Amino acid sequence: MFEAAGVEASKVLGLFWPLLAGAAVIWLLVVGGTFYAMRIRPERHSERFGRRLILIGGVIAPTLILAGIAVASLRLMADLRTAPADFTIRVTGEQFWWRVQYLDGQGRVTMETANEIALPNGSAVELELRTRDVIHSFWVPALAGKLDMVPGMVNRLLLEPRRTGTYRGQCAEFCGESHALMAFRVRVMEPAEYRIWLEHQRTDAPPPAGEPARRGHDRFLGYGCGACHSVRGTPATGGVGPDLTHLASRARIGAETLRNDHRSLARWLESTDVVKPGVRMPAFGMLPAEDLELIASYLEGLE
Ligand code: CUA
Repeated sequence: MFEAAGVEASKVLGLFWPLLAGAAVIWLLVVGGTFYAMRIRPERHSERFGRRLILIGGVIAPTLILAGIAVASLRLMADLRTAPADFTIRVTGEQFWWRVQYLDGQGRVTMETANEIALPNGSAVELELRTRDVIHSFWVPALAGKLDMVPGMVNRLLLEPRRTGTYRGQCAEFCGESHALMAFRVRVMEPAEYRIWLEHQRTDAPPPAGEPARRGHDRFLGYGCGACHSVRGTPATGGVGPDLTHLASRARIGAETLRNDHRSLARWLESTDVVKPGVRMPAFGMLPAEDLELIASYLEGLE
């Protein structure tokens, strides 16, 4: 949050510094007053002085200061909610990952991915935040303030990145055992690069290349992985877990829990329950290790 990379985060930071400075001044006054009363003039003060101190320091000053902070933050909040957006992305909190859907002008889903959000630099985007299980909180400190995802509600967060780069996001509301392992990343790209990314993510999955990947593809379908996961262009059309169509294009797996490489993929399949306690995906350690390796080979080819 101290390295704001977007309009909203800059505004929040702009409110944070005066608040911090004000808090420091009040702290110094209170500590200074205590020191004065204990060391410099420890004798009794007049009742008139005491009443005045309570009236000014305990009633008038806090009322004025808190009212000022309330006005400043309410104005900032209104400011953050009203900017028009260029396009909308729906982000749904799941236990414990993020479903990311890019919408067209009519609100139809044009592409689904997970745990990574790409944004074009300089565009205002509206994030439509939902959840299907418990309360989560969407927070990318470098880009905007946090906003809860509440069951039965649609909350809207506007943000406008102003600097390219990769920014970490984190669930900021305790949502179960693996709350701390519910992270994501936002990649802010130049608009041209973003368009290429989006075009690619909209395509179907590449066909398996090489013998292990082909056999892994058959195992993936044979074991019924497609009941929960989608790989566009194949019979796997499940909607429970993350869409895996372009899994290999993501930097990490398990919502930023593990590196996205062959070993981690095989480990994830074998022991999801250990890597991420409480996760909905069952562990498949009962399958032959060779099959898990083959499925990992297939998944790492999903560029
Ligand atoms: Cu989701 Cu904490």
